[in-house]
Parts: sequence; structure tokens; C-alpha cells
Amino acid sequence: MSKPTPTHSITAAITAVGGYVPPDKLTNADLEKMVDTQDEWIRTRTGIHERRILKGAGLGTSDLLVPAILDLCKKRKIDPSEIDCVIVATITPDYPFPSTANVLCEKIGAKNAWGFDLAGACSGFLYGLTTGASLIESGRYKKVIVAGADKMSSIIDYKDRNTCIIFGDGGGAVLLEPNDEGYGVLDSILKSDGSGRKYLHTHAGGSVHPTTEETVRNRQHYVYQEGAAVFKHAIKGMAEAVVELLDKTKLTSDQIQWLVPHQANIRIIEGTAERAGIPSERVMLNIHKYGNTTAGTLPLCLWDYESKIKKGDHLILAAFGGGFTWGATLVKWGS
Ligand code: UT7
Repeated sequence: MSKPTPTHSITAAITAVGGYVPPDKLTNADLEKMVDTQDEWIRTRTGIHERRILKGAGLGTSDLLVPAILDLCKKRKIDPSEIDCVIVATITPDYPFPSTANVLCEKIGAKNAWGFDLAGACSGFLYGLTTGASLIESGRYKKVIVAGADKMSSIIDYKDRNTCIIFGDGGGAVLLEPNDEGYGVLDSILKSDGSGRKYLHTHAGGSVHPTTEETVRNRQHYVYQEGAAVFKHAIKGMAEAVVELLDKTKLTSDQIQWLVPHQANIRIIEGTAERAGIPSERVMLNIHKYGNTTAGTLPLCLWDYESKIKKGDHLILAAFGGGFTWGATLVKWGS
């Protein structure tokens, strides 16, 4: 017996956006006093002018997301108790367990929600969007939050000039709701290649190398990155994912109103946009203000540019990061 043909399909529309960056700034001038670097080098090699740092004892990644999600709920005029599920993309969870999502739901009063953390490094928000959209498309859930946030300052060695100049703290979130007019998360190309981990990882603190006095002494709990190797793979990976997605969805670059790229390095962003054929005025950019907030960059871009995005605009979100993980997602803006 053939399956009944669905009369309509449900998509997952983004109906609200929220974001948060902490008030304390770490400028290039501050970094000049901490490591052997120069403002000019950082600006020209990365595009970063300053980043935000979450200061205060006992504050973690969930504290970046509390204001972001409360902001989102206020805009959408919903109470947190209406949220069904919260997905938190992060590599800097509050604790090894319970999950940041679990802690966050309690802090925001999402008392009817379940949730989980998703570790996809800089691509975590993209992985989360597809996962969250699937929960909506299944028909089982009506309000799913997809958040991306990292307190990178908790895993950065401020004696290592290769990494400390790049990263900052911040995060954002979107609300996904069912839509029957074709708005929302339409398609994705998502990739993973674990062989890239040698170029970008945190060595210790997991089950392979649990924390010992030696791992702490050897500074193995901080981010390790071979920047030039990651750089090369990032431009290629992001650009190829965008082109593959355009091809798959039969759209041309002219039909994409916004490229929303992971904010890791302005030269990676420009290289990706050029290869994808999207001019700079249609590329979201905030790396100069926040640096690389890992899973936070994409929702923070949406938050910063929200007033410029029009209903019906096609957005391509693209990311590349640790793992390697990378990909691109097509969204038709619905709010
Ligand atoms: O979001 C996760 C994914 N991560 C990324 O996408 C990051 C990708 N990589 C990058 O963004 C860049 O590789 C960096 C910004 C990390 C480094 O820029 P680069 O142009 O690739 O520099 P490099 O590592 O090839 O180093 C070039 C030179 C070296 O000096 P020598 O050997 O040529 O004398 C470095 O020692 O720049 C030196 N250098 C610095 N100089 C001043 C490295 N870091 C610094 C610094 N200040 N902070």
C-alpha cells in the first residue's frame, strides 16, 4: 500500500532572536600588555578590535544565555514555560554534567522543557539548527530554542598569542516554531572529519586524558590551534559547503540576501564570500566587536542584523571549526 501524500509540509521558522555579550571588553591594546603582539597585526590578520569577557565568580555559559533567551521570549511575547525543548551548542559547558541546557532551563523558568547540549565546536549552532528543525518538522514539538554560546575565556591560555587574540565570550538563541508557508530552515549540508582534530583541540580534561596535576602543569586544558592549517581548511570547507548548498537547492548567489559566516577571521569570511559570489554588503560581520565566540558567532550575527533582515530573505549560514566540523544551512526568514 502506498503512503498517503501529505497535504502540506511543516517547516521550522525562526520566529525570534536573542543575544547577549558581557559588558567587559578585552581590547587589542590590553593584549599588547599580556603577550608579544600588536594592535596592527591583530586587526590586519584577523579583523578583530576587541572581544567581550564574562567576569565574575560562579558565572558560566548558561549565564550568557539567560539574558539572550529572556530577551527572545519578551520579543515573541511568550513565557519561558511555553518552551518545549532547549538545545545548547557549546564546547564550554557549565559543568561536565549536568548539561548546560538542564541548568539553563531552571534559571530561565522553562519548567516544561527538556534539553541537551550539543558539542559541534564552531559548527555547533548549525548542527543545532538542523536538529531543532527536525523536532519541529516531526510535529511533536511547537517551540524549540536553539542556542549557541561559549565562555571561551575559560579555556584560553592568555600566555599563548596564537589563540588568546582570537576568542571572546558571548552567545545567542533563536526560537523555532512550525510554519506551513515554507519559511524557516530549508536545507543543510553538514560535514564532519575527525582527522582534523590534531590542528585544533583541547588535549586534557576528557576521558582520554583526565585531569591530573601533570595535565594542569603542562597547560593541556587550554585550546591548542595550528592556525595556518585551520585557516586553509576553513576557507575551502565553508566555501565548498555554500556552493554545494546553492547547487542542491537550485538557487543562485543573487538569490541569497545574506551570507551569515562564522566569525573566525575576516580573511576567511572574505575568501568564503568571494568564492560563493556574494558581495560584501550582503555579508554579516561583527568580528571586530566580539572576536570568535565559537558556537555564539552565528546567533550573535542574526541578533545584530535582525532589523535589516526582511521577511522572505534567503540566508545562508556557514561555519567551520574544531573536529573538523563544517557546513552551511539555508534559511528563509519568516518573521
Ligand atoms: O573558529 C575555529 C576555527 N579557527 C579558525 O578558523 C582560525 C583560523 N586561523 C587563523 O585565523 C589564523 O591562522 C591566525 C589568526 C590564528 C594566525 O594568522 P596567520 O596569518 O595564519 O599567522 P601564522 O600563524 O602563519 O603566523 C605568521 C607570523 C608568525 O611569525 P613568523 O614565523 O612569520 O616570524 C607568527 O609567529 O605571525 C606571528 N604571530 C603573531 N604576531 C603577532 C602569530 N600570532 C601573532 C600575534 N601577534 N598574536
